[in-house]
Amino acid sequence: MTRIRAVACSNIALAKYWGKASVAENLPATPSLSLTLAGLRTITEVEIDPDLGRDHVQLDGVELTERPLERVVQLLDRLRARAGTSRFARVVSRNDFPTAAGLASSASGFAALALAGARALGLDLSLEALSDVARASSASAARSLFGGFAALPAGGRTAERVAPGDHFPLSMVVTLTAKGPKAIGSTQGMQHTATTSPYYAPWVSHSPALFDAVKRGVLERDFERLGTAMEQSALMMHASMLAASPAVIYLTPTTLAVMAAVRELRARGTPAFYTMDAGPHVKVLTLPEHAARVAACVEGVPGVERTIVTGAGPDAALTDEDPRSLP
Ligand code: PMV
Repeated sequence: MTRIRAVACSNIALAKYWGKASVAENLPATPSLSLTLAGLRTITEVEIDPDLGRDHVQLDGVELTERPLERVVQLLDRLRARAGTSRFARVVSRNDFPTAAGLASSASGFAALALAGARALGLDLSLEALSDVARASSASAARSLFGGFAALPAGGRTAERVAPGDHFPLSMVVTLTAKGPKAIGSTQGMQHTATTSPYYAPWVSHSPALFDAVKRGVLERDFERLGTAMEQSALMMHASMLAASPAVIYLTPTTLAVMAAVRELRARGTPAFYTMDAGPHVKVLTLPEHAARVAACVEGVPGVERTIVTGAGPDAALTDEDPRSLP
């Protein structure tokens, strides 16, 4: 029996992916650029056991069934096809942050699974090749193989490194505004947006300009340029969803209150910008010296559960850490 453990950090898109160029191949319609976050980790253990008749997958202590199980099995099937084996796996995975709440747990989850699964099946794949494997399951997961800043081009199969995290040290104040899982999964939300929203096409055609501005902001360490384009990318993505029929609404009154608090903070001189994904939480990007002030500010907004203050995380890697040891 071969048992391998891998750790991957989640990532938050500064320029958003929303929409598929190919549903069958899971290729993104928009270019995205993300920051991988040290404070949002998944540890996954894959054990290949010749005695198993199927894959068994446990996530955060719960045995997966139906679609969530199927998504893990499909990734393992792609690896098994490459490795030329039909052996099944026992998978144990744990996140150190809330699962499926719009905090990109699928990103770190599929990245860690791709790495641990490949090694357990005897494959020695590059980060790029693993990124392709993870992307087929969840396009945002392609970016989580890389630490720091990573990009996934429109139509791209593999993410690429844009810059290491220490090129431009930033803090992300992840602001949790609700408990429990999200109502609409991202695949369903983006397909519904693509087929019913008159704002979908303008979003897709404008997204490269926002991606370019975000990328330049990162490479030139221009926080104002980066933050301004990041907010517009998030708001334009949400505008495309709001114009769907019926609307896809992830933002709650607490989300809007946190956004207002950040704008006010900024008006008073603190550099801080927000972004939201397929969930109600707000991720506030700031410079490290302002992180404590930003966290204290958003924690004072009624409805905010808690914050996770974190910065750039590393590449996905093998680890000795036991997923069962995570809280
Ligand atoms: O990779 P998915 O299917 O979980 O979609 C992620 C979509 C967003 O988080 C909203 C944006 C992004 O680029 O991560």
